Amino acid sequence: MELYIDTANLDEIKEAADLGVLDGVTTNPSLIAKEGVDYVKRLGEICEVVSGPVSAEVIATDFDGMMTEGRDRAKIADNIVVKLPSTVDGLKACKAMSEESIRTNLTLCFQPLQAMMVAKAGAFLVSPFIGRIDDIGADGMDLIRQIREIYDNYGYSTQVLAASIRHPMHVVECALVGCDVATVPFKVIKQFMNHPLTDSGLEKFVADYQKAFG
Ligand code: G3P
Repeated sequence: MELYIDTANLDEIKEAADLGVLDGVTTNPSLIAKEGVDYVKRLGEICEVVSGPVSAEVIATDFDGMMTEGRDRAKIADNIVVKLPSTVDGLKACKAMSEESIRTNLTLCFQPLQAMMVAKAGAFLVSPFIGRIDDIGADGMDLIRQIREIYDNYGYSTQVLAASIRHPMHVVECALVGCDVATVPFKVIKQFMNHPLTDSGLEKFVADYQKAFG
């Protein structure tokens, strides 16, 4: 499964890239607003650090506006993927951009038919939001399973990118279900290599060796 980081913070992106296993980055308007930086400038900076896909969301919500912004975002770097909302206008923009060979990530996907429609329109990625579904008392992983099954039934090439991930078990379940990609906040990525038995086991190995050989 590919691992993307879900942030617009450059320090977090650099630290995650240093792990050597980072495949891409997703951003959104809320994440950029949190950083208080210019979106286009920050996207350029991110693309200098990461060579894999970098999702750049449009702010416009109408077809024409999305096309204008999407084409501009695509010019920032070769690895930019234009992020569009899973709406009717987003679907049309997805189709038009795939005909122009601009890769797209269809975001804010909350039900399986949105995922089926954007796959038919040639989306490169679809982003079902697990955590936000869990937040309203439903099961976000159900959506992931449904999309995986639909895509496998018909051989759609759109990659399933699990988004709105809140904790490591979301990532484990995504890997078991067969997600293509998980985009994960930095604070969750940092937990991936943690286990108290690893720490105590390592401590004992070193202590035993030092006791025997000094
Ligand atoms: O990038 C979109 C997505 O990952 C948002 O996550 O935590 O705001 O629901 P969250």
